Amino acid sequence: MDRALYGPDGFYVLGEGATGHFRTSVSGSATVAELFAGAVGELLDRVDVALGRPDPLDLVDVGAGSGDLLEAVLRSLGSERAARTRPTVVERRPRPADLSPYLTWLDGVPDMTGLLIANEWLDNIALDVVVADGAGDDVVLLVDHAGVETPGRPPTAQESAWLARWWPSGHRREIGLTRDTAWGAAVSHVQRGLAVAIDYSHSAADRPAYGTLTGFRHGRETEPIPDGSCDLTAHVAIDSVAAAGAAWGAAYGQAVPALLTDQRSALSALGVSGRRPEYAADPAGYAAALQRAGDAAELLDRGGLGGFAWLLHGVDLHPASVFG
Ligand SMILES: C[S@@+](CC[C@H](N)C(=O)[O-])C[C@H]1O[C@@H](n2cnc3c(N)ncnc32)[C@H](O)[C@@H]1O
Repeated sequence: MDRALYGPDGFYVLGEGATGHFRTSVSGSATVAELFAGAVGELLDRVDVALGRPDPLDLVDVGAGSGDLLEAVLRSLGSERAARTRPTVVERRPRPADLSPYLTWLDGVPDMTGLLIANEWLDNIALDVVVADGAGDDVVLLVDHAGVETPGRPPTAQESAWLARWWPSGHRREIGLTRDTAWGAAVSHVQRGLAVAIDYSHSAADRPAYGTLTGFRHGRETEPIPDGSCDLTAHVAIDSVAAAGAAWGAAYGQAVPALLTDQRSALSALGVSGRRPEYAADPAGYAAALQRAGDAAELLDRGGLGGFAWLLHGVDLHPASVFG
């Protein structure tokens, strides 16, 4: 899965990435993306105030895909805050040639003070799938380029421990250790500030018995065949990721308070509203407000993007204080 996404011929390295294959809150229609960026800008404002207006104020987008979100957030900020903001994209993809020179492009999370955001990053971190073999023992599945599955090695002791704690039963279980490790490492770079992971997810109470690993190609869901031709993604076991963020803090004697909510609640708290506007005498203004409300509704719909989990970890600030 990792090679098929990020290897030399991988989906995210050779192809255009998300563009044309799937929509996210960041890569949806222009107005959806602008509304989402405005909410991230509002969150950055609140983090900035809570931290006492540091200079520089970091804004780090992990698994950004492009620099579009950061550029849109910068446009939404006042000039004083924009001048202090240090925008950084963290990506495994190569830097696009036409990227704004104001954006730093790194392949790892830097030490930072400010806001770290990761929209639909963790679901693209490769994981293994475990099934029971004929004797009822756990084995990690192998899959070839034709999609044929064969039983592979037994899980490692660490993988078995993760499964026992987070996903003890089911026909196809997805080992979330790689996501836990990635998130714990990302949070460990936040010296002061807020780290936010936004993704489709499940928790212990609603683990899917047959797993969630799937593919996307040209806007359609497809077989998750690891040949580089499609995106490969699996929902995030968000409760184990939340525990990994907290465990990082505990290991370093640092309290990392967390808040877990959904996108509808989060964006509503940041001022995004899908309420239909009052009819106005100005037809063009009314039509624009109606369009905006429709776009907001797409971000807030609990059956779609609005149902995504928002996991927030604060370092030197409580998520609830900026995000009540
Ligand atoms: C589904 S895309 C999300 C893009 C964007 N955040 C959005 O919401 O449209 C996931 C991105 O994460 C990137 N990615 C995956 N693993 C990464 C890692 N370890 N470090 C940095 N970027 C990574 C991929 O290259 C891909 O561009």
